[in-house]
Amino acid sequence: TFLDVVVKQKLDFDGFGACEGTIACSTCHLIFEEGAYKQLGPIAEEEMDMLDLADGLTHTSRLGCQVR
Ligand code: FES
Repeated sequence: TFLDVVVKQKLDFDGFGACEGTIACSTCHLIFEEGAYKQLGPIAEEEMDMLDLADGLTHTSRLGCQVR
């Protein structure tokens, strides 16, 4: 997942991935360009529910801990 990449590469995004991928925080909120968004896998109900709480939600938003 994108969260795995951030962790493995030790990228310093303050607060990113606070719940460590358990779909409990939305700090891993990412906004994709339209073309990239369409290539992502399907979105699960739990991800959708957590995304609803994300700041600045868009129609191409996903959780970084859920997309590969
Ligand atoms: Fe918390 Fe993705 S890391 S929802």
